[in-house]
Amino acid sequence: MFRMGFYPEYRGHLCLLFPFLCDWRNVRRFGMPSVFIKTYGCQMNERDSEAVAAQLVAKGYVVAPEEADADVILLNTCSVRDAAEQKALNKMQTLIGQTRKHNPDAVLGFMGCMAQSRGQELIDQLPDVDLVLGTQKFHRAGEYLDDLLGGRRDKVVDTAEETGSEATIREHLSLGASEAKAVTAFVSIMQGCNQFCTFCIVPYTRGRERCRSIEDIVAECRELVAGGVREITLLGQIVNSYGKREIGVRDGKSAFVQLIEAVHEIEGLERIRFTSPHPKGYGDDLVEAYARLPKLVENAHLPVQSGSDRMLKLMHRGYTRERFVDLVGKLRAADSEMGIGTDIIVGFPGETEADFDETLSLCAEVEFDNAFLFKYSQRRDTPAAAMPDQLPESLIEERHARLLEAVDVIRVRKLKEYIGRQMEILVEGPSRRNAARLEGRTRCNKIVVFEGGERFIGQVMDVQIADATKTTLYGDPAILNLN
Ligand code: SAH
Ligand code: SF4
Ligand code: F3S
Repeated sequence: MFRMGFYPEYRGHLCLLFPFLCDWRNVRRFGMPSVFIKTYGCQMNERDSEAVAAQLVAKGYVVAPEEADADVILLNTCSVRDAAEQKALNKMQTLIGQTRKHNPDAVLGFMGCMAQSRGQELIDQLPDVDLVLGTQKFHRAGEYLDDLLGGRRDKVVDTAEETGSEATIREHLSLGASEAKAVTAFVSIMQGCNQFCTFCIVPYTRGRERCRSIEDIVAECRELVAGGVREITLLGQIVNSYGKREIGVRDGKSAFVQLIEAVHEIEGLERIRFTSPHPKGYGDDLVEAYARLPKLVENAHLPVQSGSDRMLKLMHRGYTRERFVDLVGKLRAADSEMGIGTDIIVGFPGETEADFDETLSLCAEVEFDNAFLFKYSQRRDTPAAAMPDQLPESLIEERHARLLEAVDVIRVRKLKEYIGRQMEILVEGPSRRNAARLEGRTRCNKIVVFEGGERFIGQVMDVQIADATKTTLYGDPAILNLN
């Protein structure tokens, strides 16, 4: 139900609809408050929304299938680029227009990164908003909503820091709902970021790095696997910084590798993924783990941002192009099937044609399986926003289009190379494009769509790749190892 994805501001809303709540018409009769959550931003936000929904359901709330029906509407927001903030602000404006007419008592709230970075300012700008919940306060959603719905408080803004809040994002919703057992799940292992890349707002919205204990994370993973989950994605802003200070290196293994090993022990778990690692902290112990730990799939999302050393330095990324290329080489040597994805920012302040050419040549050299391209967006209070030579929008657009074309050609060519091959997939559920078909993922993170019955969902099986479009592989099941 909660699928592995990338940047959901491109993927529409996350509608938290679960089968055990399907008899929606009964809900109002029994007077249970209903909640609708729409999610913008990254996988961390998807995970936070799920945890908030789980918390509210445990308190007796029900999840509304449509925003129009809900007593509480929450927008879980992202600040990483201006466009993401504008989307959530426009949506709230529309909601205010609609709900205040039909459902004047509905509670409207912002949570997540924009709530954290803008706080009270959001209510000053949109006085109909009732709740602003920061990134260290998700676990307080139920208490605040009870107060607002019960009329005990008129407005709540809480963006304070809270020690231990990183350990509160652990409840999942889909367990126990037999018809819709989740096959994949996200598990948040840490919060925050200490890297302070000069363009990035995340350290200000998510705070400093704080990690959960290995025992706590493993216990959550065990429960998920007992409920039918077969693939777990460990989440953090820089996952390979996990536990650096708190846990440290043991027997030559970083805390992150120790965590992967502990999760790897869980019987019944088929696959482990993680996102996003930082190239700077990708040690040999982690590279070596791919060859040693069979459940760790051959995939790394490694955001490079630029191919120019001059830009990388100005961005405060902490690695050079040479080190990045070297790391990709090591990963591919550890496993030739390794899928490598990346993020790239186009139009960082001062980026010259020569710098941009370096990014084009890096993409040609590395041949990423997947690249997310972002137009540089000035973020308040970040050092890059005050740098000279901010580029005009038209130039950023033009470079973005050129790079997009280049990475698309590479991606499609690489996808076509899979035609005729037999690949192992984990079947996640109905295809998003065509619900009559099924969809699974290869270990290297390629989506494969095929014809098949519901009984395949949750199975690891082999498919013969018959065709490829720009983003998707199409397969015939070659059911050799169905287990
Ligand atoms: N922690 C991850 C990235 C999280 S943000 C990492 O460092 O690897 C996701 C992506 O958004 C970044 O990789 C970057 O490419 C992009 N991004 C961040 N700030 C941006 C900005 N100000 N403008 C455009 N893109 C940005
Ligand atoms: Fe942002 Fe850099 Fe931290 Fe990633 S590593 S979240 S880009 S500051
Ligand atoms: Fe956006 Fe916050 Fe994620 S700013 S990218 S939702 S950590």
